[in-house]
Amino acid sequence: MTSTPSSDLTEHSSHETATGRDPASNRPMSVEEIQASYAEYADLMHRFEWVDRLLTGRYRRRRFGDVTGRVLDVACGTGTNFRYLPTTADIVGIDISPEMLAKAERQLDDLGRDGRLERMDAQDLAFEDDRFDAVVSALSTCTFPDPVAALREMERVCKPDGTIRLVEHGRSDVGPIARYQEWRSDAHYEQAGCRWTQEPREVVAEAGLSVTDTRTGLLGIVTTFEIEPR
Ligand SMILES: C[S@@+](CC[C@H](N)C(=O)[O-])C[C@H]1O[C@@H](n2cnc3c(N)ncnc32)[C@H](O)[C@@H]1O
Repeated sequence: MTSTPSSDLTEHSSHETATGRDPASNRPMSVEEIQASYAEYADLMHRFEWVDRLLTGRYRRRRFGDVTGRVLDVACGTGTNFRYLPTTADIVGIDISPEMLAKAERQLDDLGRDGRLERMDAQDLAFEDDRFDAVVSALSTCTFPDPVAALREMERVCKPDGTIRLVEHGRSDVGPIARYQEWRSDAHYEQAGCRWTQEPREVVAEAGLSVTDTRTGLLGIVTTFEIEPR
């Protein structure tokens, strides 16, 4: 089921990274512009999800495979994470893009899973405090105008004895790949509203979250986190 919250989808300021220039500093995109860009990409992302799974599936499985109870998937997109969540998990997915949510709905059907999907801004979640046993999110903080606000929202809605799990991307450890990412970062941001070289560890640290485990893979591009809410 897909629904829209009653609260306004508000605009937040651009986030500056400590290393490198934030491509959003040229012209920060609003939540509405990012939503419009994902309306355009929803079909493409759905069709090429198998490539994403090939590259990131093992990281998602390791980070998300043991969560339990009521699980919130923040910026669930086309629902790529769903297959990596245990079948016992009670899935709630939110995303800003109705087009991405429509694909996520199909994903639930294809997987034969139940779940509730809602259109919502990750930076201003319409859930009460301590609502979820686990909050998961993948490849998402790079697209939030204010990723620190979104991470603090994830912590707010997670139970104190719950867990927050992230699979994020950033600048590669491999020089030529990193240089290519830097070279393309403005164009990539303009196209997809994604900060390709944002360093996820910096953003998580800036949000003041308590990381209990973090790992890096895929030539340094993928960083995953287990976070304990305070
Ligand atoms: C790169 S996709 C990742 C989707 C999915 N988590 C995955 O791993 O495939 C980023 C997603 O973030 C969503 N998004 C961007 N800004 C958002 C916001 N402020 N609130 C909620 N979702 C947002 C986009 O609509 C898109 O579905």
